[in-house]
Amino acid sequence: MSGPTLAIDARQLVRTFAVEGRQIRALDGVDLQVKRGEFVAVVGRSGAGKSTLLNLIGALDRGYTGHLQVLGQSLRELPDRALSQFRNQQIGFVFQAFNLLPGLSVGDNVMLPASFGAKLSPADVRRRAENLLQELGLGDRFGQLPSQMSGGERQRVAIARALLLEPPLLVCDEPTGSLDGQTTKQILGILNDSRERHGTALVIVTHDPAVAATADRTVVLDRGRILREEQSVPAVAESGAATPAGGAP
Ligand SMILES: Nc1ncnc2c1ncn2[C@@H]1O[C@H](COP(=O)(O)OP(=O)(O)O)[C@@H](O)[C@H]1O
Ligand SMILES: [Mg+2]
Repeated sequence: MSGPTLAIDARQLVRTFAVEGRQIRALDGVDLQVKRGEFVAVVGRSGAGKSTLLNLIGALDRGYTGHLQVLGQSLRELPDRALSQFRNQQIGFVFQAFNLLPGLSVGDNVMLPASFGAKLSPADVRRRAENLLQELGLGDRFGQLPSQMSGGERQRVAIARALLLEPPLLVCDEPTGSLDGQTTKQILGILNDSRERHGTALVIVTHDPAVAATADRTVVLDRGRILREEQSVPAVAESGAATPAGGAP
């Protein structure tokens, strides 16, 4: 793996918004380091600052103060065009509202990130999109329009799009919010696969305990600050990992 070992390095990250003449501190001094290949879940109640944090990490918003490096890059210093390019090539973003383009087919939505100067042949792009949709249980939906799909299906299309270019960083705002338990498991499998194959770092906002349990670490946000961090404890011990007292000879 090339490049810096940290996917995200945020120190004293502050984001304020002016609302009716008052300053709201949506993020109030966040310190967060995420290694390459690490999976961090972000939890916290509504208004805690989760989406604000994701927008900064995902290079969608640069209105912060403090220190922020994403994949070794200080985003504040990049000109707009370079920032868009960086975002498109290096970061997969799954929006809470999916943000699919309604006029494009499912397949074209998934292939969209490759249309901004990616070094892949059209045939490779198509193959990747088909494989991802297949893995996500949408193999026969390539030509459909997003409006013909359920919320859970659209969410999976958004996930396929975010994974198309095998980004080193994947940022997801409640990616399993509209999905049943079985589909959530399937998506976690695909995300973990991407982590193992490409060293993708995952930062996922979630309310789903099953998602948080899969993460290496859970960060609890409250009123713009990190309240605490929890290391994930595996839900079920590996078989053979522990021997009961007085057990096998
Ligand atoms: N663009 C914005 N303009 C003004 N206030 C905002 C904006 N985005 C977020 N906020 C405020 O910042 C706080 C954190 O919001 P958000 O990050 O969306 O929380 P969460 O995703 O945890 O529910 C909230 O008080 C919200 O109203
Ligand atoms: Mg939010």
